[in-house]
Amino acid sequence: MCCSAAAVLLLLVVLSARTQAALLPHHISSLIPILQSLEADGTPDIPSLVRSLGGCGTPVCHTLLGDPPPTPTPIPEPWALLAHLLHPNATAAERGALLAPDGSTVALAPLFAGVEVGLKRAAGRSGPIDQPYASLDALYAVTITEALGTSFLVARVNGTAALGPDGCWDDVDNPQNFTLLGPPSLVPHAVANGAMDGVLLGTRLAEDPIPLSVLFRRYYGVDNGIARGWPHSSRRRRDFGALTAVGKLEEEEADIARRAAREFMEVYVECPAIIPRCMWGARPYRGTPRPLSPPLGSIYIHHTFVPSAPCRSFTACARDMRSMQRFHQDTRGWDDIGYSFVVGSDGYLYQGRGWRWVGAHTRGHNTKGYGVGYVGNFSASLPDPEAIALVRDGLIPCAVRAGWLHQNYTLHGHRQMVNTSCPGDALFQEIQTWHGFK
Ligand SMILES: *[C@@H]1O[C@H](CO)[C@@H](O)[C@H](O)[C@H]1NC(C)=O
Ligand SMILES: *[C@@H]1O[C@H](CO)[C@@H](O)[C@H](O)[C@H]1NC(C)=O
Ligand SMILES: *[C@@H]1O[C@H](CO)[C@@H](O)[C@H](O)[C@H]1NC(C)=O
Ligand SMILES: *[C@@H]1O[C@H](CO)[C@@H](O)[C@H](O)[C@H]1NC(C)=O
Ligand SMILES: *[C@@H]1O[C@H](CO)[C@@H](O)[C@H](O)[C@H]1NC(C)=O
Ligand SMILES: *[C@@H]1O[C@H](CO)[C@@H](O)[C@H](O)[C@H]1NC(C)=O
Repeated sequence: MCCSAAAVLLLLVVLSARTQAALLPHHISSLIPILQSLEADGTPDIPSLVRSLGGCGTPVCHTLLGDPPPTPTPIPEPWALLAHLLHPNATAAERGALLAPDGSTVALAPLFAGVEVGLKRAAGRSGPIDQPYASLDALYAVTITEALGTSFLVARVNGTAALGPDGCWDDVDNPQNFTLLGPPSLVPHAVANGAMDGVLLGTRLAEDPIPLSVLFRRYYGVDNGIARGWPHSSRRRRDFGALTAVGKLEEEEADIARRAAREFMEVYVECPAIIPRCMWGARPYRGTPRPLSPPLGSIYIHHTFVPSAPCRSFTACARDMRSMQRFHQDTRGWDDIGYSFVVGSDGYLYQGRGWRWVGAHTRGHNTKGYGVGYVGNFSASLPDPEAIALVRDGLIPCAVRAGWLHQNYTLHGHRQMVNTSCPGDALFQEIQTWHGFK
């Protein structure tokens, strides 16, 4: 197995990549051959190796997981590549983050910390991990609770945000530089994603330890195209929510961070992820956007009609966003893509004009409500149940909680406001069952 042609080929890929480590894409797909190479070498404990290279080095990680192994000199080839992915820029808050095929960004330190706990549990290893801290769940402690507690303390002292922001890569095909969309907290989105994935994959590994290269490839949907549907990673918020009630996180937190647990669940678990404009490659807005005055009273449901096929991957949805924006700006002569938000069939919402700016979606009503468009032609068929739930059970309740939509909002199909068949007979029938439909 170790000497199969495939393993040799991988090693060659890794070795040739080494000379260009600086250009290795910061993408999950870069991680897989490195893991395979380490596994082929029989590296016993890859997560603790990650810590020795500067992964989770906090006091809690150190106490619960023990000393990481010493770093050998010179550093073996695959280790050097791993170290490069962990430290693209050691001074930046977003260091050690990779782009996943679903368009989300994942910090490696909390991810591997969760994986380490899972593997130690599977091996039935006792020791510091579960012993003296029986009341503290090691899996949550190393992934999220310490970071949350610290972040909220710092935020309180400094008067800054405790969670977020999201960020964007310079190039989604060859991601090198990641830029946050605002001032950094100690828990930017990438860290939250890495923490949720660490908990989910650690739980999975504790029951059934499989090689990390296999687990990551499946979970993030590397190389499986769009044939097998959404990668598991695009469901991380839902799956994390199913595993973790808010009370569970609160139990894990000291009093100071009780609010942190609640806010984390509200921001990351009860709200759907929205892909920001810079990630789908938006052109700038033309002219000066007009501000809305939230909370607004209405939400209008559309289908795009063209593109007529639902988009089922980040790549396809981002392409559709760009083509709709081109059409709206160049052909229709609008300032920007018309919709406030667009719904993919890949598990994600895409930011159009967003919560703050007047859109061009529902003539005569653009200042009164948000326009949400499903990519596809839903005249005769419905979006997937999960894409329906994304708006009905995710976006809308979240918008009400966040103060963008009135508590007593009304929901309409585009055709009720304007002479059009939009959002299609099938989807229009469906939304009549949604809360707020008038
Ligand atoms: C590293 O990140 C810091 C802080 O974001 C930034 O000021 C610096 O220019 C970055 N350096 C490189 C080489 O990207
Ligand atoms: C909080 O403020 C202190 C002092 O102004 C600063 O040194 C520190 O970096 C800040 N922490 C964060 C996370 O912004
Ligand atoms: C990343 O950003 C740094 C600092 O802004 C810059 O020096 C470097 O050339 C960028 N790298 C790429 C591949 O764009
Ligand atoms: C939309 O779907 C309807 C019903 O299947 C079909 O008649 C129509 O041609 C489709 N339009 C486009 C643009 O795909
Ligand atoms: C919704 O509630 C707001 C106050 O929260 C009120 O001003 C508004 O008239 C209500 N709208 C409807 C349609 O009932
Ligand atoms: C609505 O549009 C259709 C076709 O575009 C047209 O035949 C019809 O007269 C319009 N109805 C009204 C009330 O404008």
